[in-house]
Amino acid sequence: MRILSGIQPSGSLHIGNYFGMMKPMISYLERAELFVFIVNLHALTTVNDSEELKKNTLKAAVDFLALGLEPEKCVFWVQSDVLEVTELTWILSGVTSMGLLERCHSYKDKIAKGIVPNHGLFAYPVLMAADIILYQSNIIPVGKDQKQHVEVARDIALRFNHIFGETFVIPEPEINEDLAVVPGIDGQKMSKSYNNAIDIFTDRETLNKTIMRVVTDSTPVNEPKNPDTCNLFALYRLFAGPDKIDDLRARYLAPGLKYAEVKKELAQLIWDFFGEHREKHAELMKKQDIIRDILRDGANKARAIARETMDLVRDRVGINY
Ligand code: ADP
Ligand code: TRP
Repeated sequence: MRILSGIQPSGSLHIGNYFGMMKPMISYLERAELFVFIVNLHALTTVNDSEELKKNTLKAAVDFLALGLEPEKCVFWVQSDVLEVTELTWILSGVTSMGLLERCHSYKDKIAKGIVPNHGLFAYPVLMAADIILYQSNIIPVGKDQKQHVEVARDIALRFNHIFGETFVIPEPEINEDLAVVPGIDGQKMSKSYNNAIDIFTDRETLNKTIMRVVTDSTPVNEPKNPDTCNLFALYRLFAGPDKIDDLRARYLAPGLKYAEVKKELAQLIWDFFGEHREKHAELMKKQDIIRDILRDGANKARAIARETMDLVRDRVGINY
């Protein structure tokens, strides 16, 4: 069973990334053949600052390693170090209909948010399909927002197999419904581009300030409150054990609960939750050469598989005359 997922190095990683993608990936370390990579070519669709991209690529690697990814138990690399993926993207473009890409929500959402569309942004799902099927991956753990992209990868793989003969494994998305969408401090999906994210590795003061901005309703203190529609409660649940969650639910249902107190508790829970990882993070940030070596080793392993697939693909489509 081969499990693969990637993350863009386009800013600080937040708790939505952690619960939606990183945690499920790390939990697979012992159970499957795990492929994890940093998708810097995808980031080029929105990032035009070379220093920022370089810095964020290493930072994403450090974040993943600090959170418990063990590079000796998986294949961990940077997308652009295996350029076979760009060749496959072009080949797949020839079997991808415009309609399939035009239907993608993520493209439409990004335009609606004011991002100026370029060809890369439109073709983004084809590069993602190439990422997935180049490594003959079976399962793709992603947050709900990426499910459609994995379905596009399935469609493209099926179409290629239909036209050129059985070549690719057909991938499946895997979504943990409980954690499908982590809300941001404003209640919308948490995203680095919506300015509503709680960063994983931030300092205590910034964390406190961010949590204090979590939007709550205006129910007066002396009235009971509804935990099930409360964004603050949804965030709290991610970090507390079952007893603490039950206890907080009871406090919501009784009069007297102050949101500001829950916010203080939440900030403390988050701080403690990532405590050990934070120490490891600070250590790893000082060892960037070691991080580069880990990523290069990973790229060598990934490239060996990519080459095998591409030998087959070139033959199937007829470019190895
Ligand atoms: P962002 O929206 O902040 O740019 P990405 O698109 O880079 O995040 O997402 C990286 C991974 O994290 C993907 O697998 C995505 O589904 C997951 N993810 C991102 N935001 C959330 C969220 N709010 N809840 C759950 N998963 C998320
Ligand atoms: N598009 C994904 C995101 O923004 C990142 C990604 C690129 C990816 N290639 C992938 C995820 C392959 C899973 C598999 O989150």
